Amino acid sequence: MTAQIPATPQGLFISFEGIDGAGKSTHIGALAEALRSAGRTLTLTREPGGTSLAEKLRALVLHDPMEPLTEALLIFAARRDHLVRVIEPALARGEVVLCDRFTDATFAYQGGGRGFDLDVLGQLERWVQADPAGAGLIQPELTVWFDLPPDVAAQRLAGARVPDKFEAQPVAFFQRVAQGYADRMTHAPQRFARINADQSPSAVWQDVQAVFKAKGWIS
Ligand code: TYD
Repeated sequence: MTAQIPATPQGLFISFEGIDGAGKSTHIGALAEALRSAGRTLTLTREPGGTSLAEKLRALVLHDPMEPLTEALLIFAARRDHLVRVIEPALARGEVVLCDRFTDATFAYQGGGRGFDLDVLGQLERWVQADPAGAGLIQPELTVWFDLPPDVAAQRLAGARVPDKFEAQPVAFFQRVAQGYADRMTHAPQRFARINADQSPSAVWQDVQAVFKAKGWIS
């Protein structure tokens, strides 16, 4: 009798997006629990960050003033290190990678919010996320976008903690960021799940669960 070799599960790359204050962190934690219960091994990570080098770049990006191209280059440098050293190896091991923000945030914040050239961002995306197997770009399989009106987000964030460079921006900045996310979704509608984040946390959680149940990833 030949021994059955258990099949390695397919790696799964999932990102979470939304303007500051949209409330994604709580739900990422709850989803991690649900996916673990479904028998999956997880890598929980974030951007900018996820490696020791990328976390150093994160501190610079979040707190030091810099011009837009420098900001975009540092974010994509952090992303490259994170992809090569954490995300790709975890996917190759068949894990689920839950990433708190990814490239859509760059298009939304640097592109939408700051008004930086989207073609340059697209070029950087193609360099940094080129699939080593030659199959296009590495992108999340699913992007969960917590969509919240910027004025509601501003009320939630008011007085919550000392704001970083982005959190300190006015509501008009976040209106452009939200539009940036909407534009990214228009270009890749099959990848995005838009969640109405202007509801109670339990209603938001119901909607998030429904997306993952429909995919058959949790029960
Ligand atoms: P965030 O993910 O909200 O972490 P925390 O909950 O600890 O504050 O903070 C990251 C910030 O970085 C957020 O304001 C968005 C910004 N950001 C960009 O401007 N561009 C990017 O490409 C990424 C990934 C994040």
